[in-house]
Amino acid sequence: MKALVLDAYNSFSYKDVEKPVITDDEVLVQVKAAGICGSDVHGMDGSTGRRIPPVIMGHEAAGIISEVGKNVGDWQIGERVTFDSTIYRLDDWYTRKGLYNLSDNRVVMGVSCNEYRRHGAFAEYVAVPKHILYRLPEQVSFTQAAMVEPVAVALHALSLATPEVNDSVVVVGTGMIGLFIIQLLKVAGCGKIIAVDLDEEKLKLAAQLGATHCLNGKLPGLQVEIIKLTNSRGADKAFEAVGIQETVKLAIESVRKGGSVTLLGNLSTDIQFPLQSVVTRQIKVQGSCAICGEYPAVLDLMAAGKINVNPLLSAEAPLSEGADWFQRLYNKEKGLVKVILQPE
Ligand SMILES: NC(=O)c1ccc[n+]([C@@H]2O[C@H](COP(=O)([O-])OP(=O)(O)OC[C@H]3O[C@@H](n4cnc5c(N)ncnc54)[C@H](O)[C@@H]3O)[C@@H](O)[C@H]2O)c1
Ligand SMILES: [Zn+2]
Repeated sequence: MKALVLDAYNSFSYKDVEKPVITDDEVLVQVKAAGICGSDVHGMDGSTGRRIPPVIMGHEAAGIISEVGKNVGDWQIGERVTFDSTIYRLDDWYTRKGLYNLSDNRVVMGVSCNEYRRHGAFAEYVAVPKHILYRLPEQVSFTQAAMVEPVAVALHALSLATPEVNDSVVVVGTGMIGLFIIQLLKVAGCGKIIAVDLDEEKLKLAAQLGATHCLNGKLPGLQVEIIKLTNSRGADKAFEAVGIQETVKLAIESVRKGGSVTLLGNLSTDIQFPLQSVVTRQIKVQGSCAICGEYPAVLDLMAAGKINVNPLLSAEAPLSEGADWFQRLYNKEKGLVKVILQPE
């Protein structure tokens, strides 16, 4: 089969490789669409240590079942499916607690690190364990389904933050993840949804997708402005989807006493923490990691038209042109958000 292989850091080849051989508990998915994730782009130069070559990346994908293992039960050849980005163990302590996103030794599709290498979906076929498969509603296209994963990441954060009707919420960072958080906050019935980003194009998208106020992160007195917008108290909740010192601090200082801050961004490994502000104002700060059971809800929301991924779709391109698209994303070409690659 053809695959887009990261052969060495910053170097791809589109070439013939062995078709994956499935185990009894897996299906073979003929890939129809696979999204390039920011973590793939950051990983391709070696800086994250999570894409050690050679590896076929790709953990946001959809396709058609083309082979089934002996134990896959009711999954049929020809079914349209997507799958979780994470392969978690079923016999794990955390999984049994309902926290499969935190299970030990979980493996991410299309990731190659010191502990494991698992080829992903930038290929004609990918092997997928049955327990991470989800059927696609007929209204959801393969391309849309390849974007379920980041929406599910956003929904997982909401499920931890439990926003209430008419809550005021600040979303710091309106890239892929932040923009989906905004759409979901609107679905959840939040009141003021305040978007903060440095990129005016992203803020325009944020407004289109449900933000009631859009503020540039460079605005002098930004924090004061946010407090003013939220009854001089501060927002009920904040989400941070950048992952650096300054934006985490902004998220914390934007919420009212007793408010909550949900952290998704993780660009920095360590940051300074405004300890006294958090303690004396009784702020709840929580991390949100990956996805834990949100796929079916996201697929339903997409099928019902309540979540619209199309405005974030920048291009659909043949897999053979993947290297060029990776480079364009790596160069931070303006206006590019999500690029979906399609095997021919
Ligand atoms: N917790 C998880 O499970 C999870 C999953 C996926 C991604 N992430 C992380 O979430 C973060 C966002 O991911 P993404 O895919 O949306 O990335 P992205 O690059 O699409 O978005 C990041 C946004 O932050 C904005 N930004 C940068 N500096 C800023 C600043 N100082 N103030 C305001 N905005 C600023 C950028 O303009 C961009 O729009 C990353 O750190 C990523 O690693 C976490
Ligand atoms: Zn991803």
